[in-house]
Amino acid sequence: MKLKTLLIALGTGFGLLLLNCQGTPSRNAPIHLNPNMDTQKRYDPQAASGFFIDGRTMRPPVPGTVARDGLRLDDAFYRGEDGKGQEIKYIPVDLDENLLARGEERYNIYCSPCHSELGDGKGIVMQYNFPIPPPSFHTEKVRDFTDGYLFKVITNGVRNMPAYRHQIKVRDRWAIVAYIRALQLSQNASAEDVPLTELNGLK
Ligand code: HEC
Repeated sequence: MKLKTLLIALGTGFGLLLLNCQGTPSRNAPIHLNPNMDTQKRYDPQAASGFFIDGRTMRPPVPGTVARDGLRLDDAFYRGEDGKGQEIKYIPVDLDENLLARGEERYNIYCSPCHSELGDGKGIVMQYNFPIPPPSFHTEKVRDFTDGYLFKVITNGVRNMPAYRHQIKVRDRWAIVAYIRALQLSQNASAEDVPLTELNGLK
């Protein structure tokens, strides 16, 4: 008898609970025991503001604000362009052994799996039936690309090649461009490119 009463009481309570949640729409926000600033007043992006005279919620920087990083005004360095949308011919950073060494390291990490350490397009992916053969860098076409264009290929990708802007920092992209030039020279040099002292040793 006692058990039966308990069951009925439980059943009724549960039923009421369910009923309570259904069919009673409310304009009020749901009860939120610990609001934690979740539902404070706010403006959405691009919303109009009644507070500022120009009606804009999103405020422009105060006049005279000085940019600290992120402005990227240097077209050549950040975009490989000369300011008129033309790709620059030569890398805009100082070329030295350190840059080349860095380029070699980054190239071997990011590019060689497809283009191979030699740059002939026969990277390790080709042993696994990679569907789109990566091109060799040792063709007239790729040798004639400007440094700015090579930088853009790394930055934005090209056709079936993915972009590497998120993986490779801007300066490292230029280091890779310099290293590609070294690779190209390694496969396409004439006797005049070799210093005389070395040349005699080669003969
Ligand atoms: C996942 C494989 C893969 C990786 C990694 C890769 N590439 Fe490529 N790359 C390709 C393919 C495939 C193409 C040909 C794309 C096409 O023509 O559709 C290509 C094309 C190119 C071209 C020729 C662009 C043109 O306009 O003809 C250059 C230059 C190049 N890649 C440079 C690089 C450099 C530098 C890196 C490293 C930062 C790199 N690639 C990493 C697959 C790759």
